Parts: sequence; structure tokens; C-alpha cells
Amino acid sequence: MIRRLFFELKYILGRTPWDTGISPPELMAFLENHEPGRALDIGCGTGTNLITMARRGWQVTGVDVSRLAIRQAQRKAQAAGLQIQLIRDDVTSFENITGTFDLALDIGCFHSLSQEKRTRYATNLNRFIKAGGTFLLYTWLPENTNVTNLYPSQVVVTQFFDQHFDLTSIEHGTYRQRTSAWLTFKRKD
Ligand SMILES: C[S@@+](CC[C@H](N)C(=O)[O-])C[C@H]1O[C@@H](n2cnc3c(N)ncnc32)[C@H](O)[C@@H]1O
Repeated sequence: MIRRLFFELKYILGRTPWDTGISPPELMAFLENHEPGRALDIGCGTGTNLITMARRGWQVTGVDVSRLAIRQAQRKAQAAGLQIQLIRDDVTSFENITGTFDLALDIGCFHSLSQEKRTRYATNLNRFIKAGGTFLLYTWLPENTNVTNLYPSQVVVTQFFDQHFDLTSIEHGTYRQRTSAWLTFKRKD
């Protein structure tokens, strides 16, 4: 609840430094190398990456808990003349999501959740991803010495998903003075 209000307030005040309007190169590289299919953007914000994917022929669904972010994403999709499904939902329950997806994208949503919510998220996620499908996760990933509950290690992050997903690649980086990483998971058969 508090987290939901936190993000709603961020969008109302326009304090959304992540909302750059530019899709990251890691997503662009994935799109270059894969045929379009069905994609779910988890914590889609104002829809920048949904628009990028839809323009490349992907059938996209965006989910976010923030009413204002969803409204802004709807406006952007309409202005771009793109068919994009936008759903206001909590990713710890995914109550309003149906069907299966070839790709799930999460840029900065998973790492904003509490431990308990991360577990619920991971448990639910496998329902939506086709066998062989991809889960592309961008998350803060601290150096070993700075690991906490809020910023868990690579091993811990991977453990949330390893029942249903194999980690196939990891690219380390930094974002606003924090270490971070792109993790690519493949859904097991
Ligand atoms: C750091 S922002 C990233 C937004 C978007 N992925 C981007 O790259 O612009 C995290 C997003 O996750 C959403 N979010 C956080 N907790 C959520 C939850 N429990 N359910 C759905 N969305 C949530 C926030 O509203 C916010 O839009």
C-alpha cells in the first residue's frame, strides 16, 4: 500500500528519473535477435518500452500499479497509433492478467518490492511465460559487501526464479551510483 502510494506520488510530482523516454540497449539487442511474439511489461510505467516493442511487431501488455502511469501510457499509445493493452494491477498478484507470453520484461519493478512480495511475484510469474520463453530482468545488484534484504545478491535474486527458470546470461552495470545487472532467464520446459 505504502509502496503503491510512493510510486503514485512520484508520477504525480513528476519525480520519475527512470522515465527517460528511451528504451535501453539491452532491450533493443533482444528485439533485434528475436522474432516478435507476445510480451508482458511488468511495472511498465508510462509505456516507453511497450511502444518500442509494439513498433517492432510485438503484441504487448503493460501492467503497473500506478493509475497515473497507466493513464500516461494509454495517452502515449494512442498518440503513437498503437494497440497496447494496459492493465492496472499489482504484480504480486497479477489478478487481471490472462494468457501466456513469449517475453516478460521487468525494468526496475522487482527490486522495488519487499522480500515477501518478491516471492509472490516469482511464484505467479511462471504462470504467464511459455516454455522456452524469456524473462528479462533489470535490477539493482549490489557488490557482495553491500548485500542487504533490500538489495540481495545475485544468488538470492536467482533463487527467487530458479524453480521455473534457468539463468542464461548476466550483464553487470551501474545506474545512478548503484551497481545493477540485466539478467536473462529462460522458462524451463
Ligand atoms: C522504477 S519504475 C520503472 C518503470 C518502467 N519499467 C520504466 O523503465 O520506465 C518501477 C515501476 O514499477 C511499478 N510498480 C511498483 N510496484 C508495483 C506493484 N506491486 N505492482 C505493479 N507495479 C508496480 C511502479 O509504479 C513503477 O512504474
